[in-house]
Amino acid sequence: MNPDGPIVIFGGTGFVGRHLVARLVAAGHDVLVPSRNRSMQRELHIVPQARVINVDVYSDAALRELLQGAHAVINLIGILNERGRNGRGFEAAHTGFTKKLIAACQASGTRRLLQMSALNAGRGRSHYLRTRGEAEAAVKASGLDWTIFQPSVIFGPGDGLFARFAGLLKIAPVLPLARAGAKFAPVHVGDVAEAFVRALTRPASIGQTYELYGPDVLTLKQIVQYTAQCMGLRRAVLALPDALGRIQAALMDFMPGKPFSTDNFLSLQVDSVGGIDGLHRLGIEPTPISAVIPALLGPDPQQRRLDRFRRSRGA
Ligand SMILES: NC(=O)c1ccc[n+]([C@@H]2O[C@H](COP(=O)([O-])OP(=O)(O)OC[C@H]3O[C@@H](n4cnc5c(N)ncnc54)[C@H](OP(=O)(O)O)[C@@H]3O)[C@@H](O)[C@H]2O)c1
Repeated sequence: MNPDGPIVIFGGTGFVGRHLVARLVAAGHDVLVPSRNRSMQRELHIVPQARVINVDVYSDAALRELLQGAHAVINLIGILNERGRNGRGFEAAHTGFTKKLIAACQASGTRRLLQMSALNAGRGRSHYLRTRGEAEAAVKASGLDWTIFQPSVIFGPGDGLFARFAGLLKIAPVLPLARAGAKFAPVHVGDVAEAFVRALTRPASIGQTYELYGPDVLTLKQIVQYTAQCMGLRRAVLALPDALGRIQAALMDFMPGKPFSTDNFLSLQVDSVGGIDGLHRLGIEPTPISAVIPALLGPDPQQRRLDRFRRSRGA
């Protein structure tokens, strides 16, 4: 390990990565973000200390070269859906990439690896959770100084949960929802980023797996209803019985961008709630959704002021 070398963050251009990169840079770290398409990552370009570079992240030679002299490696690469339906896409992005990364760490002498995973990795019947579990097993067998993070669903500005449902609720008066009773304990993106930052500086985190979840446990239906409430919208949320949910998922398997899929349906069969509080173990006070989401989704403050002004004038 080279204490003066960069922290290399794979998947650092994404939702979690952007927050984590900003924190690491603010803490004075040298951060390097390999990306498959640097030109797409406009937001990261405004953190000048973070270097975003174009790399074929599946090239063994490129990985070995990148990791020469690195201080630590963080793997945030992950997908929620694959192009096909046979699990190969998940295997490549989760298990395959992780194994390549481990080999490159071993070859370059970079010992510290922080691996993003997910709650319930290795459980249930989805390719998503299966390949998460396989990647974790490879990390644990690597002989490297590893730490694994298993978050529930992550919330914050631009997330794939509240922000995504907010977009749907704007256009749909009724929302038919598969696995509406599936439970989540959403964890704030800032808390997730902080967990990585703390683990980096704590040798005691080596060889540890941290479940990351927040203080609120909500069903999927409650999440959608809360989103509508924060937006000031009245919307009907229809919980689909599993037989219909399966059909909805199977149809969406073939929609562009796969807004939902059979694999998502299967991963929702296991509740995404934790058991051993990883944030607490790292000394982080978890952020409740009420501290963040109403301000993100509610009418903007200027509009609220305008509404108040109009009401005071009887308009
Ligand atoms: N967000 C959540 O609620 C949540 C919950 C549990 C676990 N996680 C896991 O946490 C990690 C970060 O999540 P996120 O929400 O920040 O994800 P994200 O916004 O989708 O970002 C992931 C990044 O990984 C890279 N990437 C995507 N697909 C790839 C592929 N097939 N091969 C190689 N690189 C690929 C992309 O970078 P480039 O395009 O620049 O190459 C992308 O910016 C992921 O592993 C995710 O599965 C997220």
